[in-house]
Amino acid sequence: MASISSDSKIVLITGANKGIGFEIAKQLASQYKGYHILIGSRDAERGEKAAEALKKEGLSVEALAIDVADDRSIEAAAQTVKSKFGRLDVLINNSGIILDSFTGEPSSRAVFEATFAVNVFGAASTTDAFIPLLEKSAAARVVFVSSDLGSLTYRANPTGPYSFVDGPSYRCSKAAMNMLALTYAHRFRGQGWKVNIHNPGYTKTDLNHNNGTGTVEDGAKGAVRLAVLGDDSETATYSEKEGPIPW
Ligand SMILES: NC(=O)c1ccc[n+]([C@@H]2O[C@H](COP(=O)([O-])OP(=O)(O)OC[C@H]3O[C@@H](n4cnc5c(N)ncnc54)[C@H](OP(=O)(O)O)[C@@H]3O)[C@@H](O)[C@H]2O)c1
Repeated sequence: MASISSDSKIVLITGANKGIGFEIAKQLASQYKGYHILIGSRDAERGEKAAEALKKEGLSVEALAIDVADDRSIEAAAQTVKSKFGRLDVLINNSGIILDSFTGEPSSRAVFEATFAVNVFGAASTTDAFIPLLEKSAAARVVFVSSDLGSLTYRANPTGPYSFVDGPSYRCSKAAMNMLALTYAHRFRGQGWKVNIHNPGYTKTDLNHNNGTGTVEDGAKGAVRLAVLGDDSETATYSEKEGPIPW
């Protein structure tokens, strides 16, 4: 495994045991020198398995148990990172779920609550728990993995991208996540943090029963770029790998 030095950048990716999160970890660790990736996983065993696969490729990674729907798990993860590394340089809020039926049936209160528990409250609680460690970084970067299904502009256009897709709780959760990201971007702008939102596009993963048309390689690219932004780069943006998308 590549060695960790005192100036290695410490990166946490939530939900990195598979899908787009796993691919972000792989690209970041293989394409950029000096990054050590914590493979966040709500299930410790799945996280260890994913980390082992990347370690076999010589990449600097390790597993970190974190269930973003559970404050005690988030707090324990933050304590582990604090005692091992004393800081966090990059946080990628990637964990996400879809529970809507997508068949035009209304989504219940329970579906809204469960979706928001992970996609919104999970990203907020995780970010809040890691703020003290991000404040110790010389160049904090936070990436929110959202979706174009959270774009109000697209939704308001009857013929806009994915206008045929319903999914109210997922759409609302990603629109809320976008506002959340902008709130952190505003709060930490003066400290030089870069807080940005990434849309992977319709990507073949378990999230959509592997019906997505894009590859995880493409879906991860924009998040990797936002994780390594320089000090003169953008903050408070909403983009995909081809460029900005409308709010
Ligand atoms: N695929 C697409 O077309 C697409 C498009 C736009 C945006 N996105 C976004 O991209 C992100 C990654 O999705 P994906 O497509 O890679 O889906 P995926 O393959 O289903 O991966 C989702 C990841 O989130 C984790 N997760 C779920 N609940 C969690 C919790 N309570 N705590 C911590 N982790 C949790 C999953 O863990 P388990 O393995 O334990 O379930 C898994 O690691 C999501 O935010 C999604 O909304 C995806």
